[in-house]
Amino acid sequence: MTLFLLFALWAQCVLAQLPLPSASFLPPPPASGAVSSAQDSIPNSQWSTLLGNLLYFYEAQRSGRLPSTKRVSWRNDSAVNDGSDVGLDLSGGYYDAGDHFQSLSIMSICWGANDFGRGYDLANQTAYLDDMLRWGLDWLIKAHPASHTSLSNLDNAYWGGDLNIPQDRPSYQINDTRYGCATPQPAPPQAFAACSNLYANRNLGPSYSAPASLQNSSYAETLLAHALDLYAFAVNASGGQQTYQTAAPQAGIAYPSSSYGDELAMAALLLSWATNSSDYYSQAEGYYKQYSLGGTDSVFNWDSKTPGLAVLFAQLASAGATFAGNLSGWQAEAERYFDRILNGDGPSFKTKGGLLWYPGDSDEASLNPALNAAMLLTRYARIATTQAKTRDYLDFSQTQLDYALGRNPMSAPYVVGSNPNSPANPHSAMASGGNDINNIDTSPLQEAYVLYGAVVGGPDNKDNFYDIRSDWPETEVALDYNAPMLTLAAMQVLNDTSDPYFTRLQAGAFAANKPNGKPCDAVFSCHHSGLSKGAKIALGVVSSIVGSAITAAAIYIYRRRRSKW
Ligand SMILES: *[C@@H]1O[C@H](CO)[C@@H](O)[C@H](O)[C@H]1NC(C)=O
Ligand SMILES: *[C@@H]1O[C@H](CO)[C@@H](O)[C@H](O)[C@H]1NC(C)=O
Ligand SMILES: *[C@@H]1O[C@H](CO)[C@@H](O)[C@H](O)[C@H]1NC(C)=O
Ligand SMILES: *[C@@H]1O[C@H](CO)[C@@H](O)[C@H](O)[C@H]1NC(C)=O
Ligand SMILES: *[C@@H]1O[C@H](CO)[C@@H](O)[C@H](O)[C@H]1NC(C)=O
Ligand SMILES: *[C@@H]1O[C@H](CO)[C@@H](O)[C@H](O)[C@H]1NC(C)=O
Ligand SMILES: *[C@@H]1O[C@H](CO)[C@@H](O)[C@H](O)[C@H]1NC(C)=O
Ligand SMILES: *[C@@H]1O[C@H](CO)[C@@H](O)[C@H](O)[C@H]1NC(C)=O
Repeated sequence: MTLFLLFALWAQCVLAQLPLPSASFLPPPPASGAVSSAQDSIPNSQWSTLLGNLLYFYEAQRSGRLPSTKRVSWRNDSAVNDGSDVGLDLSGGYYDAGDHFQSLSIMSICWGANDFGRGYDLANQTAYLDDMLRWGLDWLIKAHPASHTSLSNLDNAYWGGDLNIPQDRPSYQINDTRYGCATPQPAPPQAFAACSNLYANRNLGPSYSAPASLQNSSYAETLLAHALDLYAFAVNASGGQQTYQTAAPQAGIAYPSSSYGDELAMAALLLSWATNSSDYYSQAEGYYKQYSLGGTDSVFNWDSKTPGLAVLFAQLASAGATFAGNLSGWQAEAERYFDRILNGDGPSFKTKGGLLWYPGDSDEASLNPALNAAMLLTRYARIATTQAKTRDYLDFSQTQLDYALGRNPMSAPYVVGSNPNSPANPHSAMASGGNDINNIDTSPLQEAYVLYGAVVGGPDNKDNFYDIRSDWPETEVALDYNAPMLTLAAMQVLNDTSDPYFTRLQAGAFAANKPNGKPCDAVFSCHHSGLSKGAKIALGVVSSIVGSAITAAAIYIYRRRRSKW
């Protein structure tokens, strides 16, 4: 009887999502990325493989009890007791730095899978996309067990494999009566709403492809219900948080209310899409005005959604009259932002090798601002006001993607395992196989496992990349670093017959260009008097392992990433 019940539950779990292919997709050896495709066709097999690898990376980052279908053989169950301190099961989700990284990545991937979703279908990756999204969304659902309540686990600074992750990962609850040390994040409602749109097949009209074929209307409804509740919670708690900040100024350190506006606007906008409502659309416009989000040159990343707003306002306005959006107004706003990037009128410039660079923001994980800009340009280009702009935006976007895939002075494609010239030392404790926090680079000398599909931080502003494991500004991997490249790769699968740039790079190309010596950044002192160990390494460690937190670790990382602003 019990056995039967268990089987029934198990069968239900398996049926709940698209069946995974019986022959698993596994990343091919890096050498296969140095071979041109035999024929020019859609889908191009190299782009399909890249898309598959990028998704595979997320599987390597899973927390919790791993299913029998797991593909990453060197990963084990971990942190299975998360939540037990509050009588809940909070196991699962992904390892990264903070709940909002997970949420942003999921939001970004769902938005991309809506606009360029057929790319996943053509590459036979839709079942893996479904699997990847549900692993994150199901955790976010568990972490939202009751109305206006959101939980997370506290991260620990730990460098090592997944068998010995410290068990003391206390759960933190935020609710209407207790905001704790962190403010409720509007990020989860964004992830829920964006993915509800995907699972409900709410496509944005002829400018875009059909969403990836993973439709499930009951799941879409579930996600929407969570989005609506958390949005209401965030809206009301953020009002409360301001008074809380006044009463306890140190709370403002966690997440100053000024940086709320873009998050609230994005949540409202995604909800207007999800509910076909002009009311949410005008709420989003209200936040845009209230928080003076217009006319800025900021990057798009985990902490700043602003440039994405004008794009989505315009996308929705162009999709139909329902939202009563001012299409020409939002086009003007988006094009002002993009044109300043293309013309070099804003704070950004292009490195000698051609990477879009934002002083400050690009000093750590330089590919992230560039790839996010490319992702927004690619999406917006389809609804630009002139054909010339469409072409310019796509061309610019392509230069950034090409750069990341090896068309750079290092001849290095910055995706682990994609080509013999890919970085070999991503800053990942689990993949490195090491557990000696004082000897991250040498213990062991060679990474134990190839972290296929991981986009690394990126080069410095002289286009130099050092491939040093402890140097997290360049070699860190993260959920949000992969997200924009997934969307770009899905678009390329749909639209590009020719290979990604890296197939032209034969073994040894990076070795021939690799700079000597040490970088000059937050980990290595500029005078190269030696490795500044300790605190600086530890900062990198926290961000690479253990996640699902909107509390201490998020604040810690927040400070780190903000420290240069
Ligand atoms: C849709 O998703 C729900 C929730 O995961 C699941 O219970 C259900 O079986 C799915 N429906 C189909 C047709 O796959
Ligand atoms: C996808 O699957 C179909 C059917 O099995 C196969 O013909 C096709 O080659 C596959 N495409 C890719 C890119 O793997
Ligand atoms: C998973 O467990 C095996 C031993 O069963 C171990 O060799 C491996 O390193 C572990 N993986 C990680 C990421 O720690
Ligand atoms: C709100 O959270 C605090 C702990 O953060 C908890 O003590 C309290 O019981 C919660 N309130 C409700 C209504 O769940
Ligand atoms: C916030 O709370 C107020 C007062 O309870 C309520 O009227 C309003 O609808 C809430 N806002 C949202 C977005 O739910
Ligand atoms: C959205 O609402 C408009 C009316 O405001 C209606 O004409 C349209 O059919 C709705 N679309 C969907 C998908 O429900
Ligand atoms: C739409 O935006 C444009 C450009 O900002 C502005 O000139 C125009 O008045 C707006 N139209 C409406 C109906 O608000
Ligand atoms: C897709 O391909 C078509 C035809 O080659 C081209 O006109 C269009 O610009 C491409 N779109 C993108 C986004 O690359």
